Parts: sequence; structure tokens; C-alpha cells
Amino acid sequence: MTNIIIAIDGPAGAGKSTISKLVATKLGINYIDTGAMYRALTLKCIENNIDTENETDVVAMSNQSDINFENNTIYLDGKDVSALIRSQIINKNVSNVAKIKDVRLKMVEIQRMLGSDKDVILDGRDVGTHIFPNTKFKFFLNASPEERGKRRYEEMVSKGEKVVLEDIIEDVKRRDSIDSKREFAPLIKADDAIEIDSTNMSIQEVVDCIVSIVNKNRQV
Ligand code: CDP
Repeated sequence: MTNIIIAIDGPAGAGKSTISKLVATKLGINYIDTGAMYRALTLKCIENNIDTENETDVVAMSNQSDINFENNTIYLDGKDVSALIRSQIINKNVSNVAKIKDVRLKMVEIQRMLGSDKDVILDGRDVGTHIFPNTKFKFFLNASPEERGKRRYEEMVSKGEKVVLEDIIEDVKRRDSIDSKREFAPLIKADDAIEIDSTNMSIQEVVDCIVSIVNKNRQV
């Protein structure tokens, strides 16, 4: 029997990671946050004063980095960087790093390996279009940019970050634009993905929707 791969793609702040973690727990499968890997590389750039728009320097740094995602935890060179990768400076720079083809090729190789033999749910931008295009479980989570910005703002404020709502909404829109327009593996809904607009849905409703579709189709 082949392992189950659930792809959850969509724009920034659509609730992908919250939903994916809950679905993973409910189905008893592993969760892989592919965005955390690009965030960890971005953190390393910032810590080493590498300009994220300088592709050559970013690729060189990425080739000397060890990135892994295990038990809901992102590791950069063996260190848990979960808390450090969610700040506004990372939000502002991560899409520059993620648009570099050589960086993506390296991350995708790791992501495919993590999903090669276990049941997994992965969230990101290119899971259903590029990382695992043949999986039968593909979802595209969406919500209005204002709602997504508001959710992200509340999440950051609850962690004690001092941020302005309008800045966060702008940041979400800017990242979506870079992610959608990049040449290699852009953010785009796969033709065969089920789109869920969560603007007016609760987290639980979205989780139940995904779990019921997976359960209905996994026995077939
Ligand atoms: O949580 P949020 O939606 O804000 O972002 P994330 O999933 O942590 O991803 C951060 C950034 O990484 C995105 O804005 C993309 O630029 C990039 N990313 C990507 O290019 N491909 C993926 N599979 C996942 C993330």
C-alpha cells in the first residue's frame, strides 16, 4: 500500500499550518511545514548579514546549511529555530529566498524524502503542483487578504510583537505577489486541488471538511 500524502497549499495567512497540525493529529500522521524551511534559511541570511536579494550569496549559504523538519520542529544546523523564524523581518525577506531555483531544488529534495515512506500532510505553496503532483489529496486554502492579514496580526500580537495591522496586510499581499509571480514552482492552485475559502469558516469546519474528504477517499 502506498503512503498517504495530503497537500495543503495556499497564500500567506490562510491558516494552512493551524489546519494541517490539527488534521495530522486527527488522522495520526506526520506534519511537515515546508515554509519553515525557507524561513530557517532566511534566518541564517539575516544572522550572517547576507542580502536576501543576492542570489549567489544565498545559494552558497544554503549549500552549507543543514535543514530538517522533525516532530513539528524545524532545525537549522541542528538547532531548533521554531521561535526565531516567525518574526516580521523573516516575513519581509522569506519570499526573496524562496524564489531562488537552486534553493528550492535543495528544499524540495528534502521534502520529497520526508514524505517518501510515511503518511504525511505538508503545507506550503507548491506541494500539490510540484513536490507531490501525483497525490490524490490536494487542497488549496484561501481567504480574503484582509482576513488573512488580520489573522496573522492577531497571532503576532499574541506573541508580544509590536506590529501595525495595515503593515501586516501589506506584507501578506506583497508576499503573495512575489510567490505567485516567481518563475519556478510559483504559488498556484493545482487544477485538481479542492479549493476551500475559509473567510467565513471556523478552523474546526475546515479541519472536518478535509478529514472527511480524506477518509472517504482513502478506502477506495
Ligand atoms: O505561514 P505563512 O503562510 O505566512 O508562510 P509560510 O508557509 O511559513 O511560508 C513562508 C514563505 O516561504 C512563503 O511566503 C513563500 O515565499 C515560501 N514558501 C514557498 O515558496 N514554498 C513553500 N512550499 C512554502 C513556503
